[in-house]
Amino acid sequence: MTDKQEPVGISRGLTNYGDFDFARYLRMSFARSMGYSTEMLARPVVGIAGTYSEFNNCHRLVPELIAAVKRGVIAAGGLPLEFPTVSLGEVFLKPTSLFFRNLMSMDTEEMLKGQPMDAVVLIGGCDKTVPAQLMGAVSANIPAIQLVTGPMMTGRWRGERLGACTDCRRFWAKYRAGELDSESIQEVEGSLSTTAGTCAVMGTASTMAAIAEALGIMLPGTAAIPAVHADRLRAAEASGVAAMRLARDKLTPNRIITEKSIENALRVLLAIGGSTNAIIHLTAIAGRAGIKIDLQRLNKLSDTTPVLVDLKPTGSYYMEDLHAAGGIGAVMRELKDLLHLDCMTVSGETLGERLDAPQPYVDRKIIHSVSAPLQPEGGLVALYGSLAPNGAILKRAAADPRLFEYEGRAVVFTSLEDMAARVDDPDLDISEDDIMVLQNAGPKSASCMPEAGYLPIPTKLARKGVKDMLRISDARMSGTAYGTIVLHVSPDAASGGPLGLVRTGDRIRLSVKERRVDLLVDAAVLARRTPGQAPPLPKRGYARLYGQEVLQAEQGCDFAFLVAEPSDP
Ligand code: FES
Ligand code: MG
Repeated sequence: MTDKQEPVGISRGLTNYGDFDFARYLRMSFARSMGYSTEMLARPVVGIAGTYSEFNNCHRLVPELIAAVKRGVIAAGGLPLEFPTVSLGEVFLKPTSLFFRNLMSMDTEEMLKGQPMDAVVLIGGCDKTVPAQLMGAVSANIPAIQLVTGPMMTGRWRGERLGACTDCRRFWAKYRAGELDSESIQEVEGSLSTTAGTCAVMGTASTMAAIAEALGIMLPGTAAIPAVHADRLRAAEASGVAAMRLARDKLTPNRIITEKSIENALRVLLAIGGSTNAIIHLTAIAGRAGIKIDLQRLNKLSDTTPVLVDLKPTGSYYMEDLHAAGGIGAVMRELKDLLHLDCMTVSGETLGERLDAPQPYVDRKIIHSVSAPLQPEGGLVALYGSLAPNGAILKRAAADPRLFEYEGRAVVFTSLEDMAARVDDPDLDISEDDIMVLQNAGPKSASCMPEAGYLPIPTKLARKGVKDMLRISDARMSGTAYGTIVLHVSPDAASGGPLGLVRTGDRIRLSVKERRVDLLVDAAVLARRTPGQAPPLPKRGYARLYGQEVLQAEQGCDFAFLVAEPSDP
């Protein structure tokens, strides 16, 4: 056979990939050097995108998961082949992990397209890895299933339960306020992250795991299984089996990630009081499928989706409790009337069929019912107004309602460096009634949109017992943080947005009711001020690509050339 086209209807596996005479003979010869029998080499291939890295603590147990996935694939008659991709460990990356998310998505996409596999199991976990893998898989559009590494277990310090990383912030704030000495903070440091896995609260990693389950691209009941739990290995084995089914049925991500399943994911995001980062990531994933998430639509969904899950940072409990309480399946069963049940999932059943399975147990302390929710409305709202013409996000569930309708004086920090230099200055002209504004921390800034939106309360106010102030920036915020914090202001200051025109002393007004954040300064005055600008484009490398191509927060911070047209298949 000399036809250069892959034959339609048969597996892409090692034997049928690409052209079919000399190249195939050569490829098989090299494949045989790996020691597989010809029977194994004739099987459909399930790739396993492994993201083990010693720079990624959250992925410490990925090798165990890979072994379990392989068991599942082999048992189902396939050949599992693991391959590495970029891995992103949240706390070890500079300037910020978001900067690298699109790089990982491109790596994932190209390796899925470039290597001969019939399906892929994507193993991710830490904040940016799951979005990057899903973005890549949607663009590559080969049968794909997500598996997550799972959350950490909590630790203990002097009888108190601790989990990364909401408690990291709580104790650090106490330390800054002088309530904790340096010996104690060192003990806390050793008790916060005590097992493998992702952050133990409803941070970005946990939110993205929940979203993957809600999208139907992950097996049911698997989002919240702790990293060290034996069930996680069983989930991995089952994911391997499921990948073989996906390969057989040619069930591709474009049949799973649809407008309806994206809306389901938004519902779940709102009901779990999930991370603000997830809006950016879900927008980017949807964008790869040619679907646009409209922030006005987010507000409509938010108005009609109750918060059901009582997890830190907005509530009291941890991911291991959510798993024991019934997991994301129990949350989705509670939301059933609000979800599109005809969405297809990786198990080959619709979401409705998935949710028809009985829910054996629900702990109502942790997963509330729709009739007795924690909060009647969703955890996140989008704001518009003269300060954020293209939108901004407030995590209402983690904010202080006292500040929802609020006007105050702006105290401006022009960059991260400026903030670091002045925020703890005893002479800083600031009171607890002021509004802290951070500029130049958006996607186009030199700092590439770090999680800096949780501006520290100035030490002199913290020592007086001030716990929260209205804070506004074009930055992101860790999913594990809390406070009255307006984020993702767009356009960002470095793109010349109004945020860059704010000066200390200006008045700003927030109205959560009206969904607005406004800069109360005359247009004529603003016209005389110099807008912000992007830093010079780096001369080479990925940083240049990022600087040229990165989009704003409401476009998911994807690269312009990676977003699919709405009409793309
Ligand atoms: Fe990896 Fe928090 S550092 S999930
Ligand atoms: Mg995080």
